[in-house]
Amino acid sequence: MGNSLEAIKYANGKLEILNQLLLPEQFIYEDCSDSVKGWNAIQQMKVRGAPAIAITAALCLACEVNHIKQQMSLQSLKQFIFDKLDYLCTSRPTAVNLFKMAEQMKFLINKQTDMKYSELANSEQLAQFFIDQAIGLLAKDIADNKAIGNFGADCFSHLNSVKILTHCNTGSLATAGYGTALGVIRSLFAQNKLAHAYATETRPYNQGARLTAFELVYEKIPATLITDSMAAFLMIEKGVDAIIVGADRVVANGDTANKIGTYQLAIAAHYHNIPFYVAAPSTSIDCTKLTGKEILIEQRPAHELTHLHGKQISAPGISVWNPSFDITPAKLITGIITEFGVIHKTDQEFKISNFLNAKI
Ligand code: MRU
Repeated sequence: MGNSLEAIKYANGKLEILNQLLLPEQFIYEDCSDSVKGWNAIQQMKVRGAPAIAITAALCLACEVNHIKQQMSLQSLKQFIFDKLDYLCTSRPTAVNLFKMAEQMKFLINKQTDMKYSELANSEQLAQFFIDQAIGLLAKDIADNKAIGNFGADCFSHLNSVKILTHCNTGSLATAGYGTALGVIRSLFAQNKLAHAYATETRPYNQGARLTAFELVYEKIPATLITDSMAAFLMIEKGVDAIIVGADRVVANGDTANKIGTYQLAIAAHYHNIPFYVAAPSTSIDCTKLTGKEILIEQRPAHELTHLHGKQISAPGISVWNPSFDITPAKLITGIITEFGVIHKTDQEFKISNFLNAKI
């Protein structure tokens, strides 16, 4: 297996992101070393995928903080970081990782600066603390994804050879590396247990056709691309063993927001009696919300559906509904694969808080 693709590159106080809008034709890294560039890259989906969004937000701000730290007092730099985190949280609303990262950073900074004998005595030290925390997210995400990959592969220990269908892009491009649902596929492949991976093209933005297909070809994983509308027929024709998808937000009862089209895959899987797994790090779990009804679903602009590479592909004047995500109800989900293990239902319910409290 070659080196994984890198969506996010941080070195020497500079952040570069791979512009995923240009893939697969062009492979171009763009500077993203301040919060305005970071906000735009996230909002325009140059960088996307729940974990990658949160890490990009933290690292673009880390670059900015590094740049301005000498011009500010400790208190004004703290306020600056908090304001910028709030601003970055306005970029996209559904993936919870961004909000959890901002909350965690504020919590840690408050804790450090409120301590009587705090190590953080000046703005330089606060800046370094924030930068270290942001950099730490990269390694943590890769380690979490590898654990998810291995726990996910263990779900198929009873099979010698597995066919998996996945949706959207949950790989190296959507994370710091390795991936979540695609990480499970990667782990199965590494264990010589992957018979075949199927990837939906994932309309309207084609994260499957452009990005997942790119990663699968890059990693030489045996794989086939299908249109979203072929999924139910594929399940019955090709004997798919499981569907594994990622998540933008898993709430307390297990209801899961993920890329639009996930819900219909879960319904088709249920009809064909095929296990349906969500693979997500705990940073994608939001136990402050009880059911999927509480999740805010991002609406994307009409042109992302009506145009392809700037060229209109639908009849001019037609109105458009373009929700970026849907909610898959917990009852259609077999298990939630996290870095701590697989959450299964007890008495037909996911007890996610109980599971996480026992692990953290
Ligand atoms: O709109 P996107 O491309 O950011 O949506 C991405 C997804 O829905 C992924 O499945 C999810 O973020 C998990 S990525 C590990």
